[in-house]
Amino acid sequence: MPSNKAAVFTGSKDLGKLAKVVEIEYPTVKDDQLIIKAVAFAANPTDWKHAVFQWNEPGAFFGTDVSGIVDQVGKNVTGFKVGDYVSTFMRGGTERGAFAEYVKADPHLTIKFDKESFDLTPLPVGSSPSSSVKNFEGAASTALGLGTVGVSFAHTLAISENKEENSQRYILIWGGATATGIYAIQIAKLVYGLKVITTASSKNHEFLKSLGADAVFDYKQPSVIDDIVKFANGKIAYALDTVASKETYQQTYDSTKGSDKVAFDNLLAIKSEDLKLNSERKSDTFGATLVYFAIGTTQSVGNTKVEPNQKLISDYKHFWYDLLPPYVQKIKTPSLRILASGLESSNEAFDLLRESKVSGEKVVFRV
Ligand SMILES: NC(=O)c1ccc[n+]([C@@H]2O[C@H](COP(=O)([O-])OP(=O)(O)OC[C@H]3O[C@@H](n4cnc5c(N)ncnc54)[C@H](OP(=O)(O)O)[C@@H]3O)[C@@H](O)[C@H]2O)c1
Repeated sequence: MPSNKAAVFTGSKDLGKLAKVVEIEYPTVKDDQLIIKAVAFAANPTDWKHAVFQWNEPGAFFGTDVSGIVDQVGKNVTGFKVGDYVSTFMRGGTERGAFAEYVKADPHLTIKFDKESFDLTPLPVGSSPSSSVKNFEGAASTALGLGTVGVSFAHTLAISENKEENSQRYILIWGGATATGIYAIQIAKLVYGLKVITTASSKNHEFLKSLGADAVFDYKQPSVIDDIVKFANGKIAYALDTVASKETYQQTYDSTKGSDKVAFDNLLAIKSEDLKLNSERKSDTFGATLVYFAIGTTQSVGNTKVEPNQKLISDYKHFWYDLLPPYVQKIKTPSLRILASGLESSNEAFDLLRESKVSGEKVVFRV
């Protein structure tokens, strides 16, 4: 068996001290799983948040996003073979984490890429511009973001797949320059044919337009809500808040003034009870997406155990298997901020996210 190393929680919640690298066992493949030999990792806010807000004991496994090469295929798995180039997501925790040299992966959370399109030369440390996926660094940045958008669009917002009707409708994506927003803009356009309104700092406007956003508004301008209301002219059908504070969810809601029957979603479990609502609008729907529900096992949310929701899982799988594949090689990643190779870069990656030092980019490092 090859040796295996992983980034695990130290027990310290201090900046720069969440993770340490330890030796762990090479994973045993189950019949319905893959083993992936990791090549690159991408950091997500959920990584440091789990350590700081949820984990109490040291030893939990870090990491949600990893790309690499399929090393073993469980006997019930179809559609993958040893040697495939893939990326996958998972929930870091006591059972597994993505930041390891060899990881267990679930096929329905895994994306297969075209090997021919890959350049295997490692990207240098520093900034690398947004592009379609053509290396393991780009691949690492995709799975959690696309999975989140899949649960949101196919289940929580239940977006119609009628592209002709959608061509007259807007989706408002609050926070278009978040890693999630960058994928949401593209999926809204490519897969669903919606028109996209989004918000970001002005320096990211041209980039988001190049991804397909029809209009981008600066969320730092006091007139942002009025400007969106005027532009949308009552045609917003869907609204996703990727930043998901009470303030941004209220801004998202207020920006849909004049629209009717809007489906709302946010990524941090904010409820409609937390909003000031217009009591005359009775046909809106409100949901909250948690991508981990796509895994299909019981998930802890705070102190609550949430059992699998079969409708959510089948909506998500429809997105993952039927809607997403034709676009996998076309979708552009965020810009990549490449750190030094080695699992030891985990702490630097977590700190960059924890201190809000990323903008329109994903923090990535090689194994
Ligand atoms: N529920 C789930 O399943 C799920 C899944 C993924 C992520 N999340 C959560 O979703 C949030 C976003 O995660 P992420 O990785 O996509 O984000 P990220 O890439 O870390 O977000 C950084 C971006 O946030 C934007 N931003 C900050 N404040 C904003 C505001 N008031 N209005 C609009 N944009 C603002 C900034 O845009 P500018 O640079 O343009 O200023 C910045 O580029 C995190 O809280 C994360 O934990 C939840």
